[in-house]
Amino acid sequence: MEPQELKTFSAEALANFQATSAVAPSSRYLIRAMLAPLPLARARTVVEFGPGTGAITRALLDALPRQATLYSFEISPRFRDYLRQKLADPRLVVISAGAECVGEELAARGVRQLDAAVSSLGLTFMLDRQRQAALGGLVQRLAPHGVFTQYQYLHGLLAYWQLNEGRIRRFTAARLLRQYFSTVAREVVLRNLPPALVFTCRR
Ligand SMILES: C[S@@+](CC[C@H](N)C(=O)[O-])C[C@H]1O[C@@H](n2cnc3c(N)ncnc32)[C@H](O)[C@@H]1O
Repeated sequence: MEPQELKTFSAEALANFQATSAVAPSSRYLIRAMLAPLPLARARTVVEFGPGTGAITRALLDALPRQATLYSFEISPRFRDYLRQKLADPRLVVISAGAECVGEELAARGVRQLDAAVSSLGLTFMLDRQRQAALGGLVQRLAPHGVFTQYQYLHGLLAYWQLNEGRIRRFTAARLLRQYFSTVAREVVLRNLPPALVFTCRR
């Protein structure tokens, strides 16, 4: 990893830890686990939520065919500028908007069907309505053969009681994902800081 990448990631994590939700970009082990289940070799349209400094984005671009388009939704202007400067690939469209806007942003670009989607969102820290808008908008467009992967750090598995929009609720990512997908498989990845769980979801 380039020193500038770590510097950019750390600066954003310090400035806005709730949105960044991490201390370092994903390890190659986590990236591999996130990408292995996805049908990328023949994919045309793929969505990424929360590219950060592009650890997963780069691997996606390496795996995607020449005609594919990757739409990456990023709310941080610092990460957006870094990606636009460092990942100059005509297949990459960095959308400077939250994942919760996925429905309208894809509709505006005429995107009807997704072959795959990958998310690094810190679901635990998001408002319930943001999570529902992001996953709902995505699932509506995910093709029947499409696959979605999401990671969550292992410490996030401890049930979080959180005050969310005025109510105390218990949040677990697995339960949320099961509302949208008929199968949700899990894989533990220990070689990441911190260790993580990868969810592979199919409609
Ligand atoms: C844990 S970091 C992951 C960065 C990178 N994908 C990786 O794995 O190294 C989470 C990323 O999600 C972004 N993010 C947080 N909330 C978001 C939202 N509502 N929509 C889009 N991106 C968001 C953060 O700015 C950050 O880039």
